[in-house]
Order: sequence, then structure tokens, then C-alpha cells
Amino acid sequence: METITIHTSKAYEILLEEGLLATAAEHISKVLPPVEDGRAANSAPRKCCVVCDKTVCQLYGQKPHPLLTGLLEAGYTVHVYVFNPGEKSKSLRTAEDLCGFLSENHFGRNDFIIALGGGVCGDLAGFAASIYMRGIPYIQIPTTLLAMADSSVGGKTGVNTDAGKNMLGTFWQPSLVIADPKALETLNKTELLNGLAEVIKAGFIGDTSIFDVISEGLPAAIAKAIQVKKEIVEEDEREGGSRRLLNFGHTIGHAIEKCSNYTIPHGFAVMTGMYLTALAADERGWSRTPMAGFIKSAIDAFAYPVYTDCTAADLAAAAKDDKKHEADRITIIYPDQPGTCAMKELPISDLEVFIASGLTKAQGR
Ligand SMILES: NC(=O)c1ccc[n+]([C@@H]2O[C@H](COP(=O)([O-])OP(=O)(O)OC[C@H]3O[C@@H](n4cnc5c(N)ncnc54)[C@H](O)[C@@H]3O)[C@@H](O)[C@H]2O)c1
Repeated sequence: METITIHTSKAYEILLEEGLLATAAEHISKVLPPVEDGRAANSAPRKCCVVCDKTVCQLYGQKPHPLLTGLLEAGYTVHVYVFNPGEKSKSLRTAEDLCGFLSENHFGRNDFIIALGGGVCGDLAGFAASIYMRGIPYIQIPTTLLAMADSSVGGKTGVNTDAGKNMLGTFWQPSLVIADPKALETLNKTELLNGLAEVIKAGFIGDTSIFDVISEGLPAAIAKAIQVKKEIVEEDEREGGSRRLLNFGHTIGHAIEKCSNYTIPHGFAVMTGMYLTALAADERGWSRTPMAGFIKSAIDAFAYPVYTDCTAADLAAAAKDDKKHEADRITIIYPDQPGTCAMKELPISDLEVFIASGLTKAQGR
């Protein structure tokens, strides 16, 4: 089993191995024992709330799946909260409903949440964990490639509002992350590509050897992507500086998601965002090595549907609402050379022109 420890304000382990879903309870009970420390052995067991969407619930979140039976056998009182799959559920309304569910079931400060699912589940359940009773522990059990390689690590939680993606959120580190790549066997090709975009992003940000190991199998690529994120979040947990590099492709990507009313998946939007940013940055001569060609190779290698029918004006307007800017300037993360990204401040008034130059080049005009 691969164990990666993340040394943020709260240190926690990421366990990565095929088959871990079946033995998850064993690992959870080492971190959050079924009977709280200091309580008499015959006192009430600790409660855990498994949060998952309907699809994941049917696959892994109900009996007789060993994850559920293992938790029960370990001695936890288990509740399951199920929400509708999709980005639309990443809302304050669902978070409030989940917090209500915890209250109705008398969850206290030492009880905990298990976020079982993709990035939507992790962000939503982590957000609820961070605000319920001013914060309770949570465990991430990612079941999508995107969540294993990226979103379950680093403690960013959040929900979307009408103003944009992740407009309400917290930094709240999990107590443990359990990643079982076997769970990826039930993902469809679209979702695999969706997650692979964040793996490819990690390659462009910090480690081009990721591109070599992708063909060897996903666990190796996931481990390398986690290492890239680990180094960055340990240096800058709350995104005051270098953590912003992880947002490569996300300024335009989030705008694409929002303009498509969240019909374009996050990873596809980020892939398009990385490409458009690289084209525009190359045109301005920002990158030490022109990088758009490298990104296009990755797009072609995996046949990504790089696509947006939004105009530069729409995307700029959506990006201006995004929280990644201050006053009249926005930080653009661009690829500087293979395995390295850099940041540049752009006046907000220049954003539409910047995006338009990427779009024009992408459309071969
Ligand atoms: N917190 C962070 O640092 C961070 C980083 C990157 C992305 N994100 C967020 O992650 C979200 C996207 O995550 P996602 O792409 O995992 O989306 P998702 O959670 O909606 O999952 C995608 C789909 O896959 C299904 N699914 C999940 N696991 C499955 C499995 N094993 N087998 C079959 N189907 C399965 C789900 O039901 C869903 O329909 C976005 O909201 C994005 O903002 C957060």
C-alpha cells in the first residue's frame, strides 16, 4: 500500500491501493476509533455519516458492500445521506439539508462524515463537515479519478452559488483519505477523461514524468499527481501564493463550466482552459518555452473534446465573477516550460482580449 502523508496544519495520510474500499473500516478505526478515546468501553459508539450521490450509493454505499458492513462490524453507528448526482447538488441548499440530517440524527462534535464519491461529494461533504457545530472530522473516500488525483487532497471544500463556482468554501483538512483505484473500474470513459485532465494538469505544473507513467496504469499516475499537489499545499495551505498554480486552466475552465450551465464537466473545461491560456500566453511571449503545442498533444493523445461555444465576452464576464481576482486585476496561471507554471497579473479590462486571442488561435483564425 502506498501511504503519502500530507503535512498541513493538520497532518493526515492518503492511503492508495487497489481493494482498500473493502478494508476501509479497519483504517478508519485507527484514526477515529468507534468508541471515542476517554469514553467508557460500553458507551455509545461514534456515529458516522456516509455522504454519497445516488450512483455511488448503489455501487458502494449500501449493504452488502463491505465498506458499509465493515463500518457496522467495526462498531460505528452508520447513517447514509444520499443526494442527486451532479454539480447542481454542490449547493448551499444541499449542504444545509445535510447539516439538518446530521442534527436530526444527533451528530455531535466527535462524530464524523465520510465523503464517498467524486469531487462534488468531497467538496460538499467537506464543507458541511467544516461548518456543522463549527467543524467535525471527515474522511475522504474518493471514487472518481478526479477526486483521487486531486480534489480529495488539500482540504479545499465548497459549494457553488449563482455568482459562480465554489463561492462559499473553507479550508478544512480531512482526517484520512482512502483511495481505491479499483473503484475506477465502474467509471465511464467520459468520467475517466474528466479526471485525467487534472492528472495532466499536475504534469504541466510540476512533474512531466506523469505523462510517461499514465500508460503504465492509473495508480502510478494518481500517486505522482498527489505528490505534485502535496508539495504545493504543504508550502501554501491557504492559497496565499504558490497554491494558485493548481488553478492552471481553472479561470477560463470555471467560466466555461458556468457559461455551459455546468453541462461541460469540470475536467473537460479545465483542459480547454489550459489550452486557451497557453495559446494566449504564447502569443504574448510570456512562456519561456511555447507550451500550447505540448497541451494540444495531450488533448490529441486522449481525444479530448476541447470545446466551448461561449464568446470571449461571456467567458470574461463569468471569470470576473470568479473569486480568483482582486479589485481590478486577475492572476493568470500559465505554463512557462514543461513541468513549470508561472503567474502574471492581468488588468481585468484586458481579460476579454486575452481570452479572445486564445479562442481565435484555437479556432485556427
Ligand atoms: N476541492 C478541490 O481541491 C477540487 C479540485 C478539483 C475539482 N474539484 C471539484 O470536483 C468536482 C468534480 O468532481 P468529479 O468530476 O469527481 O464529479 P462528480 O463528483 O460529480 O462525479 C462525476 C460522476 O461520476 C459518478 N461516479 C462517482 N464515482 C463513481 C464510480 N466509482 N463509478 C461510477 N460512477 C461514479 C458520480 O455519480 C457522478 O455522476 C467539481 O465540483 C470541482 O469544482 C475540487
